[in-house]
Amino acid sequence: MIKIGLVGLGYMGTTHLDVYRQLAGKAAVVAIAEPDAKKRAGDFSGAGGNIGNRTDAPSLSGIELYESLEALLANADVDVVDITLPTFMHRDAVLGALAAGKHAICEKPLALDYDAAREMADAAKQAGRSLYVGQCIRFWPAYVAARELLLGGTLGKARTAAFSRVSPLPGWMWRGWARDQQKSGGAPLDLHIHDADYISHLFGRPSAVSAFVGGRRGSSGRIDHIAACYHYPDDLLVTAVGAWEYAAGYPFSMTFSIHADGGTLALAADGTLALYRDGAEPETIPVAPGDGWMHELGHFVDCIAAGEPSAVISAEEAVFAVKLVMAAVESARIGRRVEIPETP
Ligand SMILES: NC(=O)c1ccc[n+]([C@@H]2O[C@H](COP(=O)([O-])OP(=O)(O)OC[C@H]3O[C@@H](n4cnc5c(N)ncnc54)[C@H](O)[C@@H]3O)[C@@H](O)[C@H]2O)c1
Repeated sequence: MIKIGLVGLGYMGTTHLDVYRQLAGKAAVVAIAEPDAKKRAGDFSGAGGNIGNRTDAPSLSGIELYESLEALLANADVDVVDITLPTFMHRDAVLGALAAGKHAICEKPLALDYDAAREMADAAKQAGRSLYVGQCIRFWPAYVAARELLLGGTLGKARTAAFSRVSPLPGWMWRGWARDQQKSGGAPLDLHIHDADYISHLFGRPSAVSAFVGGRRGSSGRIDHIAACYHYPDDLLVTAVGAWEYAAGYPFSMTFSIHADGGTLALAADGTLALYRDGAEPETIPVAPGDGWMHELGHFVDCIAAGEPSAVISAEEAVFAVKLVMAAVESARIGRRVEIPETP
């Protein structure tokens, strides 16, 4: 049984807590650190999220509740610290967990900049502990099915791919942290990183990126919209849009279309994955049940039990995802294409 210490009981913290309950027998949350006394007392009124908004409060019974990460780290029962804190707190929390001899699971994005992400992955190596990063789209059933189809060769060579992830500005967050570019990295690091990382997972690391950003708002100069083109050899054209400036009430949506010699594979906003071929009826592609968080955390727990790093998302790949998005933002800033060096 893997014993988890969960840090931060917001949208992702409660989501992870629900998942660990489904993994009963393999994993159990034994401790939680959350400074909000209301939440520690079981009052989650006002909590929210952008997918699968919960209506009930999670049960905290049988779990040691702490006000701070430091107190949780002193609990010798905890094997793994799962960090679902606001992004600007990831670095210190991961470094603290590793220094306390624990494995760490950290929500995406790993960090707000490349240097911090690099430092965190290096610290895990030095401590001889594993660092698992929640790039959940690598585990999201429709995205997994698309990758299997493409890599399995049935679709032939991919020629173009377009990804989109759009929503209103997140409003549920603790002290509005995501609205501050310095705390969340704005739409590029908070939202678009899901697609940037999946694109690397699907097609390999791009050699360069050209991007544009728009909708800068607020005193922190928050970037609300990014449109990026990831460059590959062989004329493969890959584009992605990440935007969170849409009007309140606009439904969060994640979609893609991948065109290959053997047809066009598309994920619709309603979650349907379909394959379109010339001269044939559209074919709905079956996908595994559940969401990406369930598959992701189940996989991490299995890796920890086996004493192995993740073969699906290594700490190095999570560092690269941060580096890739930073390069996209830099491309927008300087107004030209930015090469991505091979080195991690
Ligand atoms: N994988 C995904 O699909 C996905 C979706 C949403 C958010 N995220 C990521 O998850 C992370 C958290 O986002 P969220 O939406 O859950 O944020 P949130 O604001 O809903 O929750 C953050 C929680 O941390 C708590 N907190 C603040 N300071 C703390 C401290 N010092 N110690 C312990 N707890 C503390 C807050 O009280 C709050 O409960 C971010 O990095 C975000 O990018 C990932």
